[in-house]
Amino acid sequence: MDPNMLKRLIILLKMNKYIFSYAIILILTIISCSNIKDDKVLFGKLKNGKDVYKYILTNDVCEVEVISYGAIITSIKFPDINNNLVDVVLGFNDLEPYLEKHPYFGAIIGRYANRIADGKFKLNNIDYNLALNNNGTSLHGGIQGFDKVNWNVVSYDSENKRYIKLNYLSKDMEEGYPGNLNIYVTYTLTVNNELKVEYEAETDKTTIINPTQHSYFNLSGESSGDVLDHLLVLNADSYLPVNKNIIPTGDIRSVEGTPFDFRERKKIGRDLNENDDQLALGNGYDHCWVLNDYGKGLRKISEVFSEDTMIKMEVFSDLPGVQLYIGNFLDGTIKSKKGKQYIKRSGFCLETQYFPNSPNTSDFPSTVLEPGEKFFSKTTFKFSIQKK
Ligand code: GLA
Repeated sequence: MDPNMLKRLIILLKMNKYIFSYAIILILTIISCSNIKDDKVLFGKLKNGKDVYKYILTNDVCEVEVISYGAIITSIKFPDINNNLVDVVLGFNDLEPYLEKHPYFGAIIGRYANRIADGKFKLNNIDYNLALNNNGTSLHGGIQGFDKVNWNVVSYDSENKRYIKLNYLSKDMEEGYPGNLNIYVTYTLTVNNELKVEYEAETDKTTIINPTQHSYFNLSGESSGDVLDHLLVLNADSYLPVNKNIIPTGDIRSVEGTPFDFRERKKIGRDLNENDDQLALGNGYDHCWVLNDYGKGLRKISEVFSEDTMIKMEVFSDLPGVQLYIGNFLDGTIKSKKGKQYIKRSGFCLETQYFPNSPNTSDFPSTVLEPGEKFFSKTTFKFSIQKK
């Protein structure tokens, strides 16, 4: 072969090699970017075809994932004592199961967390009737609460991935609640492994408001079985006993000498089998504790610890109450992220909130929001490793 021709052929081959490698790089980039837009990852599609994205918050130790649907926290990963990442919240790997019936995994609850008796309340002499969805009561905002709507992402720190702010406009009379309520929730992950949840809201008509975060935690890992061995502290001298519909009776009862006393570290399951009428009514713990030092701003209200992973979670809040719910209604029918079953009591919720049924209980702190007022509340979940 003519040596010039050979040279040209070699050059061509080399070029082709480069072109080939560039083409491969381009294809791979396109594939890996097709799911990512501005650092958000496509999580699934709503029934109306709208895309739902997952947003990642990270501080290089802890990683939190949030989706716009329900402002749901889909995962919180934190390294255990051996530096293995543990996902400490129950949930799903994709959107579809979140669109089906599930017990409020990771969601923001509103307009009113917990139960309102008969779904009825009175404001400025007007009777309101809420959507009923739980044994004749209105639970967690009704049939389509804030957990089942797609929130707008108003800002996301795509550069440092430290915060995301979501917004939802709940229309006047939605689920029976008066007033257009404009609510914002901001999740912030700090360098100290604190996940801050901040709520801000305004209304154009007198209304009631009581949002909460409904994550189910399992500090041993979301697929690791029940949480009965977790050690729990609740800084509460009293709690709210309930009736058969899990609505507070209006009494405030001391925890002293009862299974509800978590003032000293105690296993969640230690007293569960005690013969106690309140444990029977709640199918276990599904009660609101009256937190100490309400009115003094943000204070530590709880601490939970897993001896398996040595992960500790501390909870701080400015709210008067916390509903401890220990997944009594989980029955193994829901599949975990690792394809196992979410068995009974495989997660615990610490739903910081105003007291249930406050609009019908004049002694409880008010949940009324007037036009011109700004609602603000804050709860922080802080993760760390404790070497016993
Ligand atoms: C709340 C309620 C529970 C239960 C769960 C969801 O925490 O207090 O009774 O409804 O939500 O299953």
